[in-house]
Amino acid sequence: MCGIVGVTGNSDATNILLDGLQQLEYRGYDSAGIYVNDQAGNDFLVKEKGRIADLRAEVSADVKGSTGIGHTRWATHGVPSKVNAHPHVSANGRFFLVHNGVIGNFAQLKEEYLSDVKLVSSTDTEVIVQLIGKFSDEGLSTLDAFKKVIGLVDETSSYSFLLMDKNDADTLYVAKNKSPLLIGVADGFNVVCSDAIAMLNQTHDFIELVDGEIVIVKPDSVKIQKMDGTEVSREPFHVDTDASAAQKGAYPYYMLKEIDEQPGVMRTLVQEYFNEDGSIKIDADLLNALSQADRLYVVAAGTSYHAGLVGKELFEKLAKIPTEVHVASEFAYNPPLLSEKPFFIFLTQSGETADSRQVLTQVNAQGYPSLTITNVKASTLDREATYTLLLHAGPEIAVASTKAYTAQIAVLAILVKAYGEAKGLQAVKEFDLAAELTKVANGMQELVDEKGTVEKVAKEMLETTRNAFYLGRGIDYAVAQEAALKLKEVSYIQTEGFASGELKHGTIALIEEGTPVIAVITNPKTATHTRSNTQEVLARGANVMIISSRGVAQEGDQVVLPDVNPLLSPLLSIVPTQLLAYYASLQRGYDVDKPRNLAKSVTVE
Ligand code: F6R
Repeated sequence: MCGIVGVTGNSDATNILLDGLQQLEYRGYDSAGIYVNDQAGNDFLVKEKGRIADLRAEVSADVKGSTGIGHTRWATHGVPSKVNAHPHVSANGRFFLVHNGVIGNFAQLKEEYLSDVKLVSSTDTEVIVQLIGKFSDEGLSTLDAFKKVIGLVDETSSYSFLLMDKNDADTLYVAKNKSPLLIGVADGFNVVCSDAIAMLNQTHDFIELVDGEIVIVKPDSVKIQKMDGTEVSREPFHVDTDASAAQKGAYPYYMLKEIDEQPGVMRTLVQEYFNEDGSIKIDADLLNALSQADRLYVVAAGTSYHAGLVGKELFEKLAKIPTEVHVASEFAYNPPLLSEKPFFIFLTQSGETADSRQVLTQVNAQGYPSLTITNVKASTLDREATYTLLLHAGPEIAVASTKAYTAQIAVLAILVKAYGEAKGLQAVKEFDLAAELTKVANGMQELVDEKGTVEKVAKEMLETTRNAFYLGRGIDYAVAQEAALKLKEVSYIQTEGFASGELKHGTIALIEEGTPVIAVITNPKTATHTRSNTQEVLARGANVMIISSRGVAQEGDQVVLPDVNPLLSPLLSIVPTQLLAYYASLQRGYDVDKPRNLAKSVTVE
């Protein structure tokens, strides 16, 4: 949520900032800006409402320098506009600041310290830069003014700040609390970014920061210190990801690329987690900690929460351990009654979701063990949980999550298998998961190769409708909820994922002539019931599409899924629904990778 970049010591600063912001556009795209200084008395501040392309169009050839900062915004305080875009400037014209996060007490700070300063924007960020300007005018050094302001920010606040002082123009002042930030160590210069993918063309070596640290970055040095001035030394870690993995290549949109990558992700997971002899590469300490638990608590948001719902089925049906799944933002302030020996599993593609992190902080304070399953190594939830398993899905750039959802389910299945085997469960021992995941990969490939059918259905059913329903029972209901989220977030069609049997208890009143109803039917036990429910909506004029697995398919079903173990069916049944969402969005003329009002990596609560 909001992306920030910085560079010092490279004469191509403008392009490095713009290219970095382009990579971070998934974090917010309502306005953007850069500040560049050439160390020879010239500096440039360029801001624009809209996308990075709009900002680029405003940046003329003379905007050149060797140090600079940049920002792409997802509005929290103040409407998307040029004046509210970052960088913000102090009244004395000396300090320039970009910020990712939210300052909880900005109104009080403004009232208490800035009654004599006329603020030009309606953002919380401007208050911070004005305060730095004020304290500097009162005689504090830049570092002391920066630290003083950080000390005034209340504990509800989140921030990653990048500050420049025109009078000391090769220095970047950096601070972080809750919002992600990395320092990149390049050849003869240094960079700063919210996510490593922004700077993979400059470096693959990054230093992670811990909350509460202040960093002074110069072209040839990176000095990390705590608020009390104690110096901290930390070695960079290496990011293997190839810069091209974060590019669209020949694809028109990231979402389509990421849907198509799913078979490959399944194969990668088999390679990463299975030894040649079929044993699983999961840390014995993690399995030991899991085996001490009397109940699992899966905590997540959005699509990751929906993957957790499938995980519950896997844990309970295969490994026989009670599992609860919770929406992170609810759990954080209204936790359920915990069992005696809880174990927490955080599912998060980005590893940065503030709602999930809030729960992890509480879990850590209570001393409970935890596991983060994430796509991003060295992310906050990776660092702060007791254990981590990686998704190995490659960068997910489209705002709507697709391959991370299927990777999360696959990693959960691998964990269930390892845990169930360690527990000595015969049925789990006999479950040949590596072979099943390979079958899943082949099945996914068949589905993504047959896009035409889904595109046609999207045209017939979804091009003009205002609302839609997904139906399912059991594990298919879990899929229906994710399928509905996918469709609504990229096509703006109001969609509900419904327990098929529950529809008749009220919601069926919404079915009218032409309402699209998509049923997911993979379980032989409940197939007849769900089919009856589709008859009920057909009788009321609905336009029905059925996605069924081979064993329960009937003539006329629009998509028939290849055979896999029923507990892994979500890995296949979700694919046509992702494609439906993609085509519905395109047919309605939207930017499918950047749906309105959204951003990936939600770093505010
Ligand atoms: C929807 C989507 C979001 C995320 C949610 C959690 O397509 O992407 O619902 O799943 O914001 O994000 P992570 O998994 O990064 O914690």
